[in-house]
Amino acid sequence: MDKYETHELDVLIIGAGGAGLRAAIESSAMGAKTAIVCKSLLGKAHTVMAEGGAAAALGHVDPQDNWQTHFKDTMKGGQMVNHWRMAQLHAQEAPDRVRELEQWGAVFDRTPDGRILQRPFGGHTYRRLAHVGDRTGLEMIRTLQDRGVHQGIEVFQECTVTKLLKDGDRVTGAFAYWRESGRFVVFKAKTIVLATGGIGRAWQITSNSWEYTGDGQTMAYDAGAELLDMEFVQFHPTGMVWPPGVMGLLVTEAVRAEGGILRNSKGERFMWKYLPESKRAEFAKNEDEATEWLREHMAGRTPDFNKRPPELSTRDNVARSIYTEVKEGRGSPHCGVFLDVSYLPPDHVIKKLPSMYHQFKDLADVDITKEPMEIGPTCHYMMGGVAVDPETQATTVPGLFAAGEVAVGLHGANRLGGNSLSDLLVFGRRAGAGAAEHAKKAPAPVVHDDQIEAPAKEALAPFQGTGEDPHVIHRDLRPQMQTLVGIFREEKELLQALEKIREFRARAANAKADGTRMYNPGWHLALDLRNMLAVCEMVTRSALDRKESRGAHSRLDFPKTDPAHAGHNTRVLRKGEEMVVDRKPLPPMPEELKKLFEEKK
Ligand code: FUM
Repeated sequence: MDKYETHELDVLIIGAGGAGLRAAIESSAMGAKTAIVCKSLLGKAHTVMAEGGAAAALGHVDPQDNWQTHFKDTMKGGQMVNHWRMAQLHAQEAPDRVRELEQWGAVFDRTPDGRILQRPFGGHTYRRLAHVGDRTGLEMIRTLQDRGVHQGIEVFQECTVTKLLKDGDRVTGAFAYWRESGRFVVFKAKTIVLATGGIGRAWQITSNSWEYTGDGQTMAYDAGAELLDMEFVQFHPTGMVWPPGVMGLLVTEAVRAEGGILRNSKGERFMWKYLPESKRAEFAKNEDEATEWLREHMAGRTPDFNKRPPELSTRDNVARSIYTEVKEGRGSPHCGVFLDVSYLPPDHVIKKLPSMYHQFKDLADVDITKEPMEIGPTCHYMMGGVAVDPETQATTVPGLFAAGEVAVGLHGANRLGGNSLSDLLVFGRRAGAGAAEHAKKAPAPVVHDDQIEAPAKEALAPFQGTGEDPHVIHRDLRPQMQTLVGIFREEKELLQALEKIREFRARAANAKADGTRMYNPGWHLALDLRNMLAVCEMVTRSALDRKESRGAHSRLDFPKTDPAHAGHNTRVLRKGEEMVVDRKPLPPMPEELKKLFEEKK
């Protein structure tokens, strides 16, 4: 057994995106000895891919907005399988969290009278997204990072956690390795907050970068935590499709919010065809009405809310529509569709969408002020995840907390754009507070040497492997998940996916890491692959169990939403070596909240 370094903490936060940083700020402000450990560099997180804004009912441009409407929009967008209490807390607390961020130095775009400006996004009744052009996530990370660093939070960068350590039922630490040297690190901690983000790297076309391999979900699963709704994987409607090297890179929803029009190869504005009958009344009926809405919005006046452009339908619907246009032969040259802002004044485009302007100019040689973009759906976000208590973000494992994308509850079957940034702020803060409070009463964490042997052996196994390069296995896995467990699913393909995952697991178990432990990407990927395969199995098994279409989960063999599935979440649990999927009833919503939906009627 190698020597390893040890660090002892009250609260260890795994992941340095928005949720992790916000949790760390709270926990250290409460006096807990707090550290963040992240596999990448501090601040390099998927949070920056939430470009268009943070949803919060501030009511700055549409004064009618309030938490009740935000709550209802979130629940309806999630097709009512969200945890009502998380949706309530989120809607109530998001405005304060955004204002707090402003006090900490975030520079938001402004209304003419100097307040935080808000823009429309799909599924939000009112213009609700506080934003910084199309760089909101980046500004948020910058602000939280400054705040956290100045507060003296300890940071372990480029350090990957592979296992949670337990004493009986209770979490007491984590086992990790330095990516640069390959040396092991043991963190002893009274409480741990998982803030590791999503799982997108298992799909071929994704907005997620290399870090998002389902580490938190898998570690929680291995530690015995409950996971819910893993079938709900969000495909953002607009990612780049060309050139191949940037396929999947996010094209923010803000493009559509600022007037972007979707057209197929025949020049048709196709989104009208795909508006659900029950939603048609909320959208413009024709080009003239949609143009009028945009003119009013751009002039800073209040447009008619029930005449929104059809491009502002919810993400699940827009992604399916684009996919269908391409599949039926009306796609663009590179298997996407066209997204056009070139009819708008160029200075408006450059002011509101500076990153998109440069992204297309630099990466695709397309000037979006003059020509349309080519875009298509990209795997973006995991709605499912580790089950948490809404008030404290405690998981079902004592001492283990989770926040942000790795946790489940707020978004239900489909997340509304902009709700992730406010999710990170609201529930990051709650997780930090919950963990710090728990740490006050928890005994000092004990980790014995013999507890380290198994994770160390497991971590080094790829050096004994005699099989394939892990990159080959990953290269083969991604298109299978894209095709078999993508936007549309059906039983035959899901069963095929399970079979493939079994084969990939066998290959991954014997994957071979060449070279030494010094910065060795092949070794790192061999370890990440195990997590990716675990979450792939969770998603596929859960998708098989939900025999209906709801939100982001579209079954070709069960195309309708089935009321029989409305009352439960899909649960994934580890029982010994077996992955068990069953159903857990939704917590009942209090009458006063139910009435909000009646009032609308
Ligand atoms: O399109 C976007 O700017 C992404 C936002 C989000 O995922 O919340």
